[in-house]
Order: sequence, then C-alpha cells, then structure tokens
Amino acid sequence: MKLAINIDHVATLREARGEREPDPVIAAGICELAGADGIVCHLREDRRHINDRDVRLLRDTVNTKLDLEMAATDEMLGIAIEILPDLVTLVPEKRKELTTEGGLDIYANRENLRKVIGELQSKEIPVSLFIDPKPEAIDGAIELNAQVIEIHTGTYANARNERQILTELSKIGSIARMASEQGLVVTAGHGLNYTNVHPILNISEIQEISIGHSIISRAVFTGLHKAVEDMLSIVRSNR
Ligand code: PXP
Repeated sequence: MKLAINIDHVATLREARGEREPDPVIAAGICELAGADGIVCHLREDRRHINDRDVRLLRDTVNTKLDLEMAATDEMLGIAIEILPDLVTLVPEKRKELTTEGGLDIYANRENLRKVIGELQSKEIPVSLFIDPKPEAIDGAIELNAQVIEIHTGTYANARNERQILTELSKIGSIARMASEQGLVVTAGHGLNYTNVHPILNISEIQEISIGHSIISRAVFTGLHKAVEDMLSIVRSNR
C-alpha cells in the first residue's frame, strides 16, 4: 500500500495571510523526505489554495509522483499538458464547496470526460477518475478508458454508527474488487485519518491512499515529518 499526501492545506494557510509562507513546495519536499510515495495537489478554478506557480515548482521538484487533481475543463487541460504531471485525477468541482464533495457523475459528463481523458492520454499522462463506490461508475471508467480509479471514502469517513460504517466498507470493498478484476488500478481517499484508515488498508485491491487534512492537521502539533512518519508506520505495518 502506498501513501500519497495532499498538500493543499499548506497553501490554504499561506492564502489566509496572502503571504509567501508556509510554502506547499517545501511541504512536498518534507513529505518525500519522510517517505511519502507521492504528492497530490488540487489546482482549483478559483485558485483558493494551490496556484499556478506551485504546480510548476512542484513539477520541477517532486521526485516521487505528482498527482494533479483538477476539474475536466479546457483551462486545466492546458495546464496539465504544459506541466505533464505523473497522474491527473479528474474530480468534480463546485465553487462554494469546502472540499470535493463526491465522485464524478460520469454519465452526465461523458462526452467532455472522453475528450479530456483522450487529450491527456495522447500526451502519455495517465488518468484517474474520482468516483463514488457505485458499480455504474466502474462501467463508466472502463468505457472512458481510464487507467486508475480513486474511490471516494468520504461517506465511510463520515459514517457515525457501526452499521453505516460496515455498509460503506462493504461498498468500497466490492467496488475495489470489481475495478481490479477489470484491470483498473484502484486507489482511495477523502476523510481518511489515523484511526479510520485501518479497515481500508485491509482491502487488498487498493494500491494507494491519498490523505491531506488529517496529516496536515497533525503536523501543526508534531511537525510535518513526524505526522507523515506516523501515518506511514500505520500504512506499512498493515501490509
Ligand atoms: N482525494 C481527492 C480526490 C480529494 O479531492 C481529496 C481532498 O482534496 C483527498 C483525496 C484528500 O482528502 P482529505 O483531505 O480529506 O484527506
């Protein structure tokens, strides 16, 4: 199991003051030094945290794997083709949301997604689709020729009783199996923390998890290097 770290919150803190620090590019380097397998950043249309300068510098400095999360728009497509990240994760984006609220509605956006995926892949950029744990999303990902799916774990992370937790885990497990059987690389993320990550690590088809909020939050108290090491020790001890 690999761990990719989303560093958007470091940029959120920088933007709270409109200053130069803390710099998400430095955060990415610390995450890599602590052993992270990849760096994720979400360039939003409104540039509320990560900006164009960050993405370009991250492309130059990230040595592991740079996953650019973005909406399937022409503007973002142009930036991705210019900087050539190691992976593009396509996500739905709403202006007012605090964070990505759900997976892609593949069928409602099929033609646009087909065009964007085709153009990214023509530049040899692999594409991941952020999807809810629903079987129809796997059919959509296969039809659109995506190489990777990232299963949205937010509903699982927000579940408040045992029954809901088990229901969500079983959905994630069966979607992971279905996707893996069809040859897709399976990853997962959203809302995972030092406690709720354990059952996700037991789903053998999931090859990588992507975590931002809980690691950056812990880093405020422990320092980023230690926060990454703490998560890695959980991730590595499981598999
Ligand atoms: N994966 C995707 C597609 C996301 O949009 C986010 C949040 O930016 C994450 C993973 C990480 O979620 P969290 O910050 O809750 O760990």
